[in-house]
Amino acid sequence: MPKVLVSDKLSMAAVQIFKDNGVEVDYLPDLGKDKEKLLEVIGQYDGLAIRSATKMTEKVIAAATRLKVIGRAGIGVDNVDIPAATKKGIIVMNTPFGNSITTAEHAIAMMMALARQLPEADASTRAGKWEKNRFMGVEVTNKTLGLIGAGNIGSIVADRAQGLKMKVVAFDPFLTPDRALEIGVEKVTLDELLARADFITLHTPLIDATRNIIDAAALAKTKKGVRIINCARGGLIDEAALYEALKSGQVAGAALDVFLEEPATANPLFEMPNVICTPHLGASTGEAQENVALQVAEQISAYLNAGEISNA
Ligand code: MLT
Repeated sequence: MPKVLVSDKLSMAAVQIFKDNGVEVDYLPDLGKDKEKLLEVIGQYDGLAIRSATKMTEKVIAAATRLKVIGRAGIGVDNVDIPAATKKGIIVMNTPFGNSITTAEHAIAMMMALARQLPEADASTRAGKWEKNRFMGVEVTNKTLGLIGAGNIGSIVADRAQGLKMKVVAFDPFLTPDRALEIGVEKVTLDELLARADFITLHTPLIDATRNIIDAAALAKTKKGVRIINCARGGLIDEAALYEALKSGQVAGAALDVFLEEPATANPLFEMPNVICTPHLGASTGEAQENVALQVAEQISAYLNAGEISNA
């Protein structure tokens, strides 16, 4: 019987799926944070189900002598050393669809919060200030949303934004003209997006081609007063450049769910009044966590029992 370790907090429904598929499972949700213990036990398992706390470094992978599959309940596999896993013949899977709606909804929530300065207005009201004249917002209707990345999450954001009567332009080298038509967006170059967007939202993985895609040079090409939302990955925006652009007013506001260093417990951007921050909550809904847990358990079981690969 294959044996799987769940080393991060995952819905218990995943455990049941493993059992139903005849897979022995150890549910140790705090183990991922304990590097030494993980190193000690990882050699016992054929499969591993993780979220983001477990770091599958080269060292841990080297100790994983029986491991055949790592399943990430979520989209990003940043916490897995893919070349090291590949070298050992370990399949790495993710669940690219399970939390897309939830993450897209967070991006829309962040955009609306930025447009109406909701966190600041909330804090001011609770402080008894009743600053009705201070919080003058902007409408999103008829504004242009610049989508950087029009994949699973980006295309859902585009759909919701169109429901809000926004015009959506998208920069994505993989977006075909047919797909652009299907999702109702105008495919543009990055420079065109920067020049036209009132709001910019990022939905790409962090790879060499996207690292600091929003840097000082890009920010200089935006409309003055642009608002930027990032619910994807921290390294997509040069945080120092964003700080300067927020200070100068080139950027009117930024809503950030992700940071270069996470957990982000201290960051110069926290000082800026026109910044809204959340602690990487993009995928944090009950529905999404249930989806990704079920999917990852099904995928790992199918691989261990039948060699089926649905998302590697
Ligand atoms: C993901 O990669 O699925 C999201 O960023 C959410 C997460 O890391 O929990």
